[in-house]
Amino acid sequence: MLKVNHLSKSYQTGTNMYPVLKDITFHVNKGEFVAVMGPSGSGKTTLLNCISCFIPHDHGEILLNDKNLTGLDENKLAAIRNKHLGFVFQDFMLLDGLSVFENICLPQIIAKKPIPQMEAKAQKLCSLFGIEKIKDKYPAEISGGEKQRTAVARAMMNQPYVLLADEPTGNLDSKSCKAVIDAFLQAKNEMHTTIFMVTHDSYAASFCDRVIVLKDGEVNQELTKTGTRREFMDQLLNVLRELGGDDSHDAA
Ligand SMILES: Nc1ncnc2c1ncn2[C@@H]1O[C@H](COP(=O)(O)OP(=O)(O)O)[C@@H](O)[C@H]1O
Ligand SMILES: [Mg+2]
Repeated sequence: MLKVNHLSKSYQTGTNMYPVLKDITFHVNKGEFVAVMGPSGSGKTTLLNCISCFIPHDHGEILLNDKNLTGLDENKLAAIRNKHLGFVFQDFMLLDGLSVFENICLPQIIAKKPIPQMEAKAQKLCSLFGIEKIKDKYPAEISGGEKQRTAVARAMMNQPYVLLADEPTGNLDSKSCKAVIDAFLQAKNEMHTTIFMVTHDSYAASFCDRVIVLKDGEVNQELTKTGTRREFMDQLLNVLRELGGDDSHDAA
């Protein structure tokens, strides 16, 4: 579904080129829930922004459902972002002037889809993610966990190939964090969604099928969950501790 091959990316500061991603290769299968972890500054957000086509990469290729995104012009990339990628951000990015239901509908309003079909779909997502009761409220009237579940529902409206999330639980308490992770798991289980999530939170990552660990812009290791969630979380905490990374309860 998502293939990243030999990806590299440098930032230029003054006359210096500062390499942030160095020859990154990994694949994410359809329906898989994968997390990227690693110490602060290891390149997680940069990697996600390259995959999102928000910033260009220097070398290597990104394939989404076998389509090579490398070298496409801005119009084509915008179309791919709208149709085939779903985004969830740390700070929710909901529109304050729209209700929960209207926020969820937004991607299809932009895509000019028929209204009855759009509303039926938004309704279905509201019940799937347990936000039916708040659908007529405005973002200022709901909790962080509810905001993020609204954002997940919105990201699912166009049935993206991949849901991309950067620290989706970073601003949430542990109860809301679990509610958002449950929304991802429902998307995966009920809609076979492929999810790629950057997180520094071992608790959130322990619900994933696989974790890619970045260090200094390189894939340090990949861990696949084989035993229980609890065992996987302990394994992740150990790996991050050894790398000098953050853990669940450190600041981001
Ligand atoms: N736009 C930018 N220009 C220059 N350097 C950047 C830019 N964005 C990030 N960096 C640097 O790249 C490195 C990786 O950043 P980032 O991808 O945000 O890491 P992470 O999300 O893992 O904390 C950091 O050292 C950061 O300072
Ligand atoms: Mg980051």
